[in-house]
Amino acid sequence: MSTLVVVGAQWGDEGKGKVVDALASRADLVARYAGGNNAGHTLVLGDRKIVTHLIPSGCAYPGTLCVLGAGMVIDPEVFHAEVAALQRGGMLQQGELRVSLDAHVIFSFHRRLDGLREDLGRGSAKIGTTRRGIGPAYEAKAGRRGIRVRDLFQPARVSALLELNRDRLDPELISLGGPSAGVDVAAEAARAAGWAQSLRPLACDVGALVDDAIRSGQRVLIEGAQGALLDLDHGTYPYVTSSTTLAGGACAGLGIGPMAIKKVWGITKAYATRVGAGPFPSRVDGELGDLLRREGGEFGATTGRPRDCGWLDLPALRYAARTNGLSGLCVTKLDVLAAMPEAWICAAYEGGVAPGADELDQARPVLERLRDWGDPRLVERVKLARRLVDLPPPVRDYLDRIVEFTGVPLALVSVGASREQTIFLEEAF
Ligand code: GDP
Ligand code: IMO
Ligand code: MG
Repeated sequence: MSTLVVVGAQWGDEGKGKVVDALASRADLVARYAGGNNAGHTLVLGDRKIVTHLIPSGCAYPGTLCVLGAGMVIDPEVFHAEVAALQRGGMLQQGELRVSLDAHVIFSFHRRLDGLREDLGRGSAKIGTTRRGIGPAYEAKAGRRGIRVRDLFQPARVSALLELNRDRLDPELISLGGPSAGVDVAAEAARAAGWAQSLRPLACDVGALVDDAIRSGQRVLIEGAQGALLDLDHGTYPYVTSSTTLAGGACAGLGIGPMAIKKVWGITKAYATRVGAGPFPSRVDGELGDLLRREGGEFGATTGRPRDCGWLDLPALRYAARTNGLSGLCVTKLDVLAAMPEAWICAAYEGGVAPGADELDQARPVLERLRDWGDPRLVERVKLARRLVDLPPPVRDYLDRIVEFTGVPLALVSVGASREQTIFLEEAF
């Protein structure tokens, strides 16, 4: 059995796209299981930069099957635009894409509600979401009034479900956005009929497909979205996304059993970022934070928003290691940290607050300064390293510290955005 799950071990944007692309040449099938186009996963192929939102980041390899699981929420407009753009770029040929019949569909009223709540909500209602309609679509799913891909093929059912959603949502939509903000059942049903046509050839029982692939010995790479601290159950609630981002969600989100998973790798940047509201104890304000943002290009791949930046939070990473059951760690953006004149690590929180606790927003980090950092030659040596021994000693010491603290061995180190700038330390499959 050769199934590897790769998840974000922080607040998202850890470099999942880069790592999945670097591993996908060896995979037969790459699957997404959660989230939707709140994700923005960047692949750098030579001088081309591709950002995937819904399509798995294995799409750059001919012959690799890309599948979207039942746990996802899919905005068909975004889906079609993304597929068309990838195909124009010579990727994702006929037969290389499948979508779960059970994935839920994002409609325009989900997006509108998400945006209106962000604009007009108060206090903890402002999450700083991506405004893509993710929360409202998962709400509908949990409320058993969601519209699935399979429902699109039954127009009468779609209309009935749209009416149900209109009755539930119109009071809120109209109170926040005025009379024209309500659900337009006829217009939505017409759009849904168009999506049904284009999705029909791609829709299938993805659980059975992935299960067959695993049983027949294919190499299956499962790509998480968002990150551990954004998980609905175990993240910094309520400042989280609305799905299970953790590796455990891969099973439910695809329709396979836990025994099918062989390895779980968690990705962490060499520092930390967060976008949207919520606790971030190791955030750095001022010049150093700005420098991290500039050096790391820390602007959202989906929304373009500047990401808050800070030092690597070891307690939060250890928490992510536990909640995901990580068997390997992938450390990315080591080149960015190496460019900093000084670097720190968050080794604990004052008062011993637990990463999953509400008090995290009050937690003060205990920071330790990294030794022998700030040599201007460090960054070039890091970018050129292709083996662990090529890395300068202070950088290797830093990696050792992370491994020692989390108890998770290194599986991969990334020293730049391109595929080639990758140090493989463990076989993926
Ligand atoms: P994802 O959501 O986890 O896939 O991450 P994003 O794509 O949103 O953000 C990660 C950003 O860092 C992208 O711009 C990547 O091209 C870039 N990146 C990934 N790994 C590295 C690395 O090791 N070094 C540098 N400099 N950039 C990286
Ligand atoms: P990738 O897969 C970083 C954050 C949003 C917000 C919260 C809820 O690229 O790592 P949502 O729109 O999901 O309801 O927003 O979650 N968020 C992400 N942050 N990377 C992501 O995806 C994210 N997806 C959602 O900023 O704080
Ligand atoms: Mg991202």
